[in-house]
Amino acid sequence: MTDLHPKRLLGKVVVVTGAAGGQGAAEAEALTREGARVIATDVSESPGCRRLDVTNEKHWAELATDLREAYGQVHGLVNNAGVTWRARIDDVRPEDMARVHAVNVTGPLLGIQHLAPLMPPGSSIVNVGSSAALTGHYPVAYTASKWALRGLSRTAAMELGPVGIRVNIVHPGFIETDMTASAAPGFREANVRETPLGRTGTVDEITPLVVFLLSDEASFITGAEIPVDGGLTAHGGAKSISDALRADT
Ligand code: NAI
Repeated sequence: MTDLHPKRLLGKVVVVTGAAGGQGAAEAEALTREGARVIATDVSESPGCRRLDVTNEKHWAELATDLREAYGQVHGLVNNAGVTWRARIDDVRPEDMARVHAVNVTGPLLGIQHLAPLMPPGSSIVNVGSSAALTGHYPVAYTASKWALRGLSRTAAMELGPVGIRVNIVHPGFIETDMTASAAPGFREANVRETPLGRTGTVDEITPLVVFLLSDEASFITGAEIPVDGGLTAHGGAKSISDALRADT
């Protein structure tokens, strides 16, 4: 019998960071369902996850050595691990800026540096940015780090294009995970108010794009930035104006 839905990532070896929970765990599951051999990693101990702190160069070097021995090649990397820090500009400290930057920017850089040499043409890297990377979101350490990740993504797309490696960045809006569960209720309400689709998103609404970008279906897509945010960032602040005028009439 013909398989009408062939697995799209069959034979591909894919590394996912921050895969102990939230979006990373969902991505690891979805990629596995599509036939990929997924190496799920996280800084925290978790069943099924290899311990990898994205800021630790030694961990990346050991992973690269192990993957070279086990598979010879790596076809995908999802730089998903990330941390937030909700200090505003008047009380954020230089060490907060450095810590968040280390995880959200240097981590993905190290992943690219260590795994790209194992990647054959056709490989794909997906960085996980944020709607904060497209706006002036108030947690400045987080926002600045995610803007920096956009820069890294674009430079990597340019530099790795000639060897056939694609690099894209996805920008989730408010997604229900531990990260957003720790935010104040007002944060959720304000996000929903600013989101044209009128709700928060789920991890299962991020994974299809990640699967697609890792697959050969996306073979000419590189350097792209794709929001998955229910329209949050597209209106650039115009929604509250529209809503206010509608309420007035
Ligand atoms: P989460 O907090 O549920 O998961 C993040 C994972 O990263 C955790 O398992 C954590 O242990 C791991 N991690 C943290 N530091 C690490 C390190 N140094 N090395 C390796 N792993 C580390 O958060 P969520 O929501 O799943 O976040 C995934 C990505 O999506 C992050 O990059 C986050 O910034 C981004 N994002 C999340 C949004 C949301 O609404 N949940 C919105 C926009 C972006």
